[in-house]
Amino acid sequence: MTSIYFDHAATTPMRAEAIAVYADAAAAGPGNPSSLHASGRAARGRLTGARDTLAELLGCTASELVFTGSGTESDNTALFGAASVQRRKGRTGIVTTAVEHHAVLHACQRLEEQGFRLTLLPVDEWGRVSAADAVEAIDETTAVVSIMAGNNETGTLQPYAEIGEIARSRGAVMHVDAVQAFGYESFDLHAMPIDLLSVSAHKINGPQGVGLLYIRRGTPFQPLLQGGNQERARRAGTENVAGIAAFAEAAKLAAGNINARRRHAEDIRAALLQALASELGNDAIVLNGHADLRLPHIANVSFLGIDSETMLMNLDLAGVEASAGSACTSGSLQLSHVLTAMNVPRERLQTAIRFSFGLGNTRAEAEKTAKIVATISARLRKR
Ligand SMILES: Cc1ncc(COP(=O)(O)O)c(C=O)c1O
Repeated sequence: MTSIYFDHAATTPMRAEAIAVYADAAAAGPGNPSSLHASGRAARGRLTGARDTLAELLGCTASELVFTGSGTESDNTALFGAASVQRRKGRTGIVTTAVEHHAVLHACQRLEEQGFRLTLLPVDEWGRVSAADAVEAIDETTAVVSIMAGNNETGTLQPYAEIGEIARSRGAVMHVDAVQAFGYESFDLHAMPIDLLSVSAHKINGPQGVGLLYIRRGTPFQPLLQGGNQERARRAGTENVAGIAAFAEAAKLAAGNINARRRHAEDIRAALLQALASELGNDAIVLNGHADLRLPHIANVSFLGIDSETMLMNLDLAGVEASAGSACTSGSLQLSHVLTAMNVPRERLQTAIRFSFGLGNTRAEAEKTAKIVATISARLRKR
């Protein structure tokens, strides 16, 4: 049985072009970009090429980009790195949203334990924060504001640019977690009110274990890791050269083809939702998240009457891979903090499934999935 992979928000298949670049770099032999000899210079050349590509795609300069080991590391580095310097200027407030990924939320909670004042902006029933709430929350004592671009569970987009204007006008550092949005939303960083931005390679058909952090020139920042002077002393540790080269290749094909990628994801999403509605009836399903202000590749659907775990297990047995929320909470099956913050009724909360789409998916897979869901629903309801 070939499975249908509808969990691209958790991780994506690495694309052939990126695998080829990875293999080429890995096969090139040893090469530490910090070494002065020829092999080192060759590795450094790959790193420089990748950084230049990414800088062009993001509208920033290459020296403002730091390679990390994951989106999580980028988020942590951004928050701890900026907050500690801001604190020295008497800024002790952290403002974020209740629906961030745990890479941001847990880092912010750690900062709170260290004496920062944490404000979690609420969201509406579609998972969006309001700029008006941000205006209230951000003041001259705010150190860092962290707002995700698009949510990983519902796809809902946040008004991060609007909030970035407010944050920067009040002297706070603005961080955006763009891990889900990069490759679907375009970023022109020098023109945007953003100081720090996190990206992850494995969400855009690149390798796992490679992240990127944009640090606008002049942003208050102190490195998290101590060690060598790699990445201009902003992230110690020998760079993952092959992974970074493959990441740049994947980024070129993702951020360089946003419109086509959006159309493809929208097409699969629409096909799945239409087919689910016709198989199950409109009353049996509820869409969680914003209907329009959203990323194209995520559909969070509650199948009323069937709890998420049972539905996921049955889908898996039938060869459909989806998720109950973010990947890290699905193992422990906690109720989603995102849907909870949206005040979604308990029944919808307990029955939510996240389908997420991308490279390789087809409309036929979406239609087949809807039929499989219908069969599972009918079987479970008969019990
Ligand atoms: C919005 C968001 N931020 C951060 C992360 C963490 O990225 P990584 O898996 O590369 O650590 C994820 C991963 O799911 C995410 O969706």
